[in-house]
Amino acid sequence: MQEKILVLDFGGQYNQLIARRVRDQHVYAELKPYNKISVEEIKAEGYKGIIFTGGPNSVYDPASPHYDKALLSAGIPILGICYGHQLLAWMAEGKIGSAGNFSEYGKVTVTHRGGVLFEGVPEECVCWMSHTDSVMELPEGFQGVASTGMCAVAAMEDVSRRLFGVQFHPEVQHTQYGKTILGNFLFKVCGCSGDWHMENYCKQAMEAIRAKVGDGKVLLALSGGVDSSVCAALLAEAIGPQLTCVFVDHGMMRKNEPEEVRKAFEGWDIHFVGIDASERFLEALKGVTDPEVKRKTIGEQFIRVFEEEGKKIGSVDFLAQGTIYADVIESGAGDAATIKSHHNVGGLPDFVDFKEIVEPLRDLFKDEVRQLGRELGLPEYLVSRQPFPGPGLGIRCIGEVTREKFDILRDADAIFREEVDKAAAADPDAPWTANQYFAVLTDTRSVGVMGDMRTYGYTVALRCVTTDDFMSADWTRLPYEVLEAAGTRIPNEVKQVSRVVYDITSKPPATVEWE
Ligand code: XMP
Repeated sequence: MQEKILVLDFGGQYNQLIARRVRDQHVYAELKPYNKISVEEIKAEGYKGIIFTGGPNSVYDPASPHYDKALLSAGIPILGICYGHQLLAWMAEGKIGSAGNFSEYGKVTVTHRGGVLFEGVPEECVCWMSHTDSVMELPEGFQGVASTGMCAVAAMEDVSRRLFGVQFHPEVQHTQYGKTILGNFLFKVCGCSGDWHMENYCKQAMEAIRAKVGDGKVLLALSGGVDSSVCAALLAEAIGPQLTCVFVDHGMMRKNEPEEVRKAFEGWDIHFVGIDASERFLEALKGVTDPEVKRKTIGEQFIRVFEEEGKKIGSVDFLAQGTIYADVIESGAGDAATIKSHHNVGGLPDFVDFKEIVEPLRDLFKDEVRQLGRELGLPEYLVSRQPFPGPGLGIRCIGEVTREKFDILRDADAIFREEVDKAAAADPDAPWTANQYFAVLTDTRSVGVMGDMRTYGYTVALRCVTTDDFMSADWTRLPYEVLEAAGTRIPNEVKQVSRVVYDITSKPPATVEWE
């Protein structure tokens, strides 16, 4: 059985990060909301250890999330972080309070006096704190092992019961020895061996797919994005000829993208159905200028094409989806499968007579999905792709779309991406990070001059953002040289363009995409 750690979620902002940090040390971690798993279920799952996350509440507020005290005598090691540390103290009958009006926020020097968690950590180290309440009185059996100028119990332990708490956040980068501290809990306290490797996962996932699918047929809508591509590769490797991938080219892909996707999958023994549906999408989009109507029209056409292809293939038992762990967490564990199946294939055709949904990536974070893709031999250009919206260039081409406009946009976009990629590769330590970057074809024309001749061409806007989660984003401070190269090359190489501008709005107030 795969050894695993339970990260019990009490609502803090770094909770996914805790699970990531555990997995970074090759120990599989699952994040579950505190109110979705009971003590009995935890025991039955055989977790090697539990981490209580932070959370925005005060433990003595009756409305705040609490947990069954019986967990403390289940014999499973627990590490409480921030709110989790206070909750652990509260569950063990210690006292929590806030000393006057103080809070500790940001980098704080923590001094420790030994203890298992601090093995290999200097006596004084910088940790990231964010709290108002503190443990004021230690529970029986616990020892305080670290403090700060303001916080007497920055860390506590009860070695005999294997219960530990830290007021700071070891998962946050600013905590200097966070990795060592978490590692001590995982390996010294919980006795984990660190057997979570992508290679093992890949084998296990393939066995699980074969066991579930038997000799049934599987259908996958392949978009060319990272998740669906990796999902396709994994299924291809596991069940080959039973898989049909339907790739719908709506004519709004980036430069060379349809060919790249086809090429990546032609070596596998699968049924690959690539459909050039661009004509039909363009026809449906004629006269459409409203962004929302555009999105809906594209979505609807997509379903129609998928529907028709599904009919041709005949009775399909399983529908595969590239749902990843972030989708599962965001939709609330438990209900995730149903929510996602609706979301992904919105109004999935009734005819697809499938028994079940197969979601082989639902345990993985995005960067793990990329790792798995590499493990399966997918080319780097597919695996390291930036996000690309389902409606494609349709929402990056302002106003009514035409084939000609898409061609212009594709060329301008390819140049800009090439310049950003080149600059990023040349300077891996650059102070800027570009997480998503593309060109937008505006519906504004402007006057230019080329070779003594007047021009009147399109204005291309360049968009480049720095973000962790795409919920908010900052415009990237690209070096002038990159902007200069794009600003020179685009009008020179794409003759219908006479002007290039750079989008300097963050999100909010703007969104990443223009439509
Ligand atoms: P916005 O424009 O909402 O974009 O700030 C945030 C992120 O989501 C992507 N995006 C989409 N992805 N289907 C998708 O799969 C869509 O309809 C869609 N719209 C926006 C966008 O590229 C950015 O990464």
